[in-house]
Formats: sequence, C-alpha cells, structure tokens
Amino acid sequence: MGAFKVNRRNMLLGTGASLASLAIGANAQAPVPPTPSPAAPDPNSPPPTADQIRRMQWWHVAKFGMFIHFGVYSQYGRHEWAMETQAIPMQDYLQLAKEFNPKPHSARAWAKLAKAAGMKYMVMTTKHHEGFCNWDSKLTDYCAAKQGPGRDLVREYVDAARAEGLRVGFYYSLMDWHHPDGALCAHDEEARKRFVEYTHGLIRELLTNYGKIDVLWYDVSWPLDAKGWESERMSKMVFELQPDIIVNNRNKLPGDFSTPEQKIVAEAGGRAWESCMTLNDSWGYQRADDNWKTSRTIIRNLITCVRDGGNYLLNIGPRGDGSIPEESVRVLTEVGQWMDTNGETIYKSDLCQPRRANYASFTRTGNTLYMHVHFWPGEDVAISGLTAKVKSAYFLKSKQPVKFTQDNFRVHITGLPTHAPDSPITTIALECDSEPKQNTDYVRINKPRTV
Ligand code: GLC
Repeated sequence: MGAFKVNRRNMLLGTGASLASLAIGANAQAPVPPTPSPAAPDPNSPPPTADQIRRMQWWHVAKFGMFIHFGVYSQYGRHEWAMETQAIPMQDYLQLAKEFNPKPHSARAWAKLAKAAGMKYMVMTTKHHEGFCNWDSKLTDYCAAKQGPGRDLVREYVDAARAEGLRVGFYYSLMDWHHPDGALCAHDEEARKRFVEYTHGLIRELLTNYGKIDVLWYDVSWPLDAKGWESERMSKMVFELQPDIIVNNRNKLPGDFSTPEQKIVAEAGGRAWESCMTLNDSWGYQRADDNWKTSRTIIRNLITCVRDGGNYLLNIGPRGDGSIPEESVRVLTEVGQWMDTNGETIYKSDLCQPRRANYASFTRTGNTLYMHVHFWPGEDVAISGLTAKVKSAYFLKSKQPVKFTQDNFRVHITGLPTHAPDSPITTIALECDSEPKQNTDYVRINKPRTV
C-alpha cells in the first residue's frame, strides 16, 4: 500500500465511513468515477399525457398485483389452452361448463392472500379464450349465471377485492373459441359486424354493472386488427363509462401500459409497463404442473421490476372449486412476510441505476440504495463502482448499523454474520450523499492491476 495522501476525494469518501476507508494509498490520485449519463429519450415512445399521469398514479405506487386465471379450464385442470391444444370437441367442453361449480365466495380467499402478499390490485379473467363469460350476461347463455356456477363470479370477485381494499381489474380475451363468429369474423364482414357488436356489448356490461373498475386488461386480438375490432370506438365507450380506468396494449392500440409476458423488460422513454408472470408454468390451473418458483425468485423478480420502473402482475390459477393450489399459498405467504418488513423498498422505489452484482440486486428511494442480498456470502459483501458517497449503512429489518469502508472502487461491508439474518433475502440500506449510481467500467479501467 503506498503513502496515504489526503485529497478531496479521500476526504469525501472518508466522512461517515470508518477511517480505514481513507487508506486507499496508491489509488488516492485516481479520478473520481464519473456518474453514468442517463439514457437518451426514445423518439418512438412519447412521454405520458397529463391524463395518463392522473389515471396511472395509483398503479405506479401499487407495484404488485395478482392475476387470476379462472374459468371452465380450471375445472379441467390441464392449462387454459387445453380446449385448443387438445382440440376438445365442443360437446365435451360444454359438459365441463355444466360441471364447473366453484364454492361460493372463493374469491374472498384469493383477495385475502393477495393482500397478505403485499399486492395492491387484482386482475381476473372475466372471459378467456374459451369464450365462457364469468358473469351474468344478457348477451349469451354461455356465462356463469346460466351454466354450472349458477351465479355471477365477477360480482363475487369484485366484492372480495373491494372488501380487502384492493383495486379491481378485468382481463378480457378478444379471441373467442366458442362464439360461432369468433374465427369467421376474419373473412366474413357480416360475422365481423355481429362479433364486434357482441364484443363491445360484453365490455359495456362489464364496465356498467360493477361500479368503478380500475384496469381493463385486454388479451389476444386474433383474428382482427384495430380497424376490425373498431378499437377506437371501443376505447371511446370504455372511457365514457369509466373515466379513471387504465387499459393495456393488447387490443392493437398503445393503451396506457405495455405487458411483457413471462419476462422483465423495461419500456423506453418512460412508458409504463407491467410484467405478468406465472407461479409455475401455467396460467390456468394445471394439476400436474409442479414447476413452482420459490419465494426468493418471486421477490427477485419484483425487485427487478420496480428497479426499472415497472409493475409485477403475478398469477394464481385456482382449481375449479375455487381453491388455490397449496404451493401458491405457501410461496405468496412467504413473499408477504418479506414484504411486511421490506415493502417500503418496493412501493417507494424510484428508478434505480445500479445493477451489477452476483449475489444481490438493488432498489433505490431518493439517495438511499437498498442492497437486497439473495445469496448470502457470509461475513462481508461489496458493491463495485458506486459513485455516491455512503453516509451510513444498516440492516433494514433490525435497523442495526453495519460497518463499511468506501474507496474509489468499492463499498465494502464487513463484520456480517455467517448466516443470512433474513430470509429469503436480506436487505442492507445504504444512505448516500447523492443519487446512488454505479460505474463498473470505471473500475475495470482504473483499478490497479499491480500491488
Ligand atoms: C397469453 C396466453 C393466455 C394468458 C396470457 C396472460 O396471451 O395465451 O393464456 O392468459 O398470456 O398474459
């Protein structure tokens, strides 16, 4: 180690950290890591309008929602696409619709679980690709009130979500494998007109009969385009009925937010986005699918979403009787326990630039960086290339301070327990003097290669 020299950078880094942090010797003259410049705005993605900002406000704070896939396919238990991927004859599927009879108010348990997990909104399939309407529709007999359930499942869901103080979302599949015009509409203008009127009519029912609805979540627009669906006219009706609603982008219009599926990819230019994901590999109940994600994976995904400014919509697929698979309950309960003490790092998160680590991920609120350690290495952890000065560091859960040193290349946190203090992820808060950013290129280029 070379002679200790005090320069402005050393002074800066030393304050608040232990004196050992000043002993950076040979590195003392190294340039201060430059703060990385923000990404340029994307000209293809216009910034949100004032009305979008107003309608989207609650959703940006909510961060975490529950997706529920529930329908006749839940009764069958082989994934929500079974009707098509097994080419089930119509008479057999209609029989399933007669047998489908969930226990009354099953949705109460879904809503309680969502709340316990720290979720703030729910989005349930009102009609999936199978074409079955989960409500009491005047426009079709193929609906819950007139088939097996004998009652309005959408009503039960809406009441259950509201009872837990959760926002209410409706998923709606434009594609329809049951309606006689559902495929014919692609090349028969009379069929298209009938099917578009049916579709607009169903959406009108959903947005008229259940009070204030917070999210309309369209899915699969096959076989028509925006012109074919008359999406602009549909949209006008939607906002006339529900002026505060937010809508996704799956009706071939941009809508208010994008919907990356089974992956986490941020949108450019500040456009809102929500990653939707399954807990195993199926949206609708699939009895044999045991490929469950762990609570650690779910929390890491949630962290990644909010770090990059997105929301996380996580699915459950209840059985036909309305019960939630035990594995989903277990994982979401663990997630909720973690959220009880770490939730503030999620709900209050700002865009967070630091991301390079092999055993941790990061979120940020103002000048505080949260280091979420998912693979606890024991004794010490380090962050490379942090450009802000750390003023104090502590375990988020216990508020117990942790020892650290900082030089031009890293923040080194020492004296940690051998085993992770929290499960499944331990969060260390680092209060900085400015917005925490990371520049690992600086480290690669400048860290001395000789001792
Ligand atoms: C896909 C699937 C559908 C599922 C949806 C959720 O579009 O076709 O089954 O409901 O993803 O995003």
